[in-house]
Amino acid sequence: MAHVLRTARLLLRPPRPTDRDAFVRVHEASREAFASWQPPRPPGETLHERFDRDLERAVTGLASGKDVRLLAFLDDGTLVGFFNLNEIVRGAFECAFAGWSVSSPLQRRGYASEGVTGLLDLAFSPPPHGLGLHRVQANVMPHNLASLRVAEKCGLRREGLALRYLHIAGTWADHLMLAKTAEEHLVTSRPQWVERIA
Ligand SMILES: CC(C)(COP(=O)(O)OP(=O)(O)OC[C@H]1O[C@@H](n2cnc3c(N)ncnc32)[C@H](O)[C@@H]1OP(=O)(O)O)[C@@H](O)C(=O)NCCC(=O)NCCS
Repeated sequence: MAHVLRTARLLLRPPRPTDRDAFVRVHEASREAFASWQPPRPPGETLHERFDRDLERAVTGLASGKDVRLLAFLDDGTLVGFFNLNEIVRGAFECAFAGWSVSSPLQRRGYASEGVTGLLDLAFSPPPHGLGLHRVQANVMPHNLASLRVAEKCGLRREGLALRYLHIAGTWADHLMLAKTAEEHLVTSRPQWVERIA
């Protein structure tokens, strides 16, 4: 079963093979904006190969229950961005790491805040509609002001600074660690389970 989520303006769903062209277009239009904040692609990897890798990760993550990787669309089918819950750990932790990015031409319209709020709704809603997690964490570079503001608007608290945490744009970059727990989150949108569509 795949995860589908509706927010006020967005439909968040797993990637499909037919999303390839939109995926490539968004990454071409956002190349500079994404490069400063995201792990580099393997040397020589094309955007088509990157799409294949992301699609495969979405499918295997869904099967293993370890990753929920969603694309966000407007009603007219425009691909807005990417919202992920990665490295889901169950047991005594019940935690996932959230990640997000929005297509450069569509930034500063509130889509990231809306998508991340939806992602948290999915994370914290009880099964079968949600994942029933207890904690969602995110790691953001201290000078990524846009992403920090998104996290803050969505109620993620700063918990500390992880030194030399991730290798981004050629260097081991410090990251602020942010988190929210289920006790702190009021569900506002409707996560749904639908038949597998990937
Ligand atoms: C971070 C990102 C997802 C924000 O997307 P967005 O759709 O523009 O975000 P929103 O429109 O929801 O804006 C949220 C807040 O951030 C603010 N903001 C957006 N871009 C900003 C910028 N460049 N500098 C400062 N604040 C910014 C907005 O003004 C808004 O705050 P406000 O409501 O108080 O005015 C987008 O900039 C992006 O994809 N960046 C590259 C990838 C990335 O950094 N991913 C996160 C890695 S941790």
